[in-house]
Amino acid sequence: MSLNAVVDIRLFSDTASRPHLILADDGNQYVVKFAQNADLPSIVAEYVCGMLAAKFNLRVLDPIVIMLDADFIRNSVLLRDREIQAGPHLGTKMINTVFNLNGNTSKKIYPKKIINRDQVPNMISFDIFVNNKDRNPGNSILVPVNDDKFEYVLLDHGECFGGSNWDGDIAKKMKYELSEIHWDTRLITGVGEFIIPMQEMTQISSRDVQQIIDSMPRAWVWDDKSTQSLILALSNRDMKNMLLCIENNKSMFPRWI
Ligand SMILES: Nc1ncnc2c1ncn2[C@@H]1O[C@H](COP(=O)(O)OP(=O)(O)OP(=O)(O)O)[C@@H](O)[C@H]1O
Ligand SMILES: [Mg+2]
Repeated sequence: MSLNAVVDIRLFSDTASRPHLILADDGNQYVVKFAQNADLPSIVAEYVCGMLAAKFNLRVLDPIVIMLDADFIRNSVLLRDREIQAGPHLGTKMINTVFNLNGNTSKKIYPKKIINRDQVPNMISFDIFVNNKDRNPGNSILVPVNDDKFEYVLLDHGECFGGSNWDGDIAKKMKYELSEIHWDTRLITGVGEFIIPMQEMTQISSRDVQQIIDSMPRAWVWDDKSTQSLILALSNRDMKNMLLCIENNKSMFPRWI
C-alpha cells in the first residue's frame, strides 16, 4: 500500500536524514525520509526492520510508502535544492505527543506506568537480531496511551544490518552486538527473559523475509545481490550467538542475578 504526498509542510527535524513533514492524500501527516542513491541501504533497513518489528509484535512506527510526484517536488524549494527525485519515499505517521528517552519528561515517568515494560527483553533481542548500531535515546520514544499510561515505541532502523553501508556481503558480515539500552531494564534478571523472543525471531524463514522485500518498492532495490544476501543473513540468525551477546553484556543489567 502507498499514499500520495499532497503538501510539503516543513522540514521536520534537523537530524541526519533531514525528514520532512508531509500531508498525504489520506488526510494524515507523515514524517518522510527520502530514498535516493547513498541513502538506499538505510531506507531499506528502516523499511525491512519496521516490518519485522511489527511481525514480532513490537510497538514500532509502521513504515508507509509515500509517493512524491514531479509537481510536488517542483513546488518545494527545499526538496528541489536537495535534488529529491519523484518516486516512492519512506514515511511514518506523525504522532503529536512523543517523548525521547533522554528528555526530562521521559525521565520523570514512573516505570510502572509504561504498559509494555515487560517487552524490553524483546526489544533488546530485536536490536541484536537486526544488528542495530544506533538505538540512541531518540530512536525509541515514549508515547502516551491515556492520561496516566505510556508505551515504548521503536523507530529509526536506518543503522541496522551493521550500519548504513551494508551490501551484498551482509550474510557474511552481520554481527551479534548490543550498542546501547535506554529502556527500563529492572525486570530483567538473567538470560531466561530472552529465550522466547529470541526463539521466535530466529525461526523466521527466508520466505517471510522475501515477502517483506517483495512488499517494498522495486525502486529501492539498488542491487539484487544485496537483498538476496540480506534474506540469507536474517533467516540464518543464530540463537546461541544471540544469547552469548546478552551474557557478554550482562553488566548493562542492574538486576542481573
Ligand atoms: N512519526 C513520527 N512522529 C513523531 N515524532 C517523530 C516521528 N518520526 C520521528 N520523530 C521524531 O524525530 C526524531 C528524528 O527522527 P529519526 O530518528 O527517524 O531521524 P534521523 O534523522 O534518522 O535521526 P538520527 O540520525 O539523529 O537518529 C525522533 O527522535 C523522534 O523524536
Ligand atoms: Mg534517529
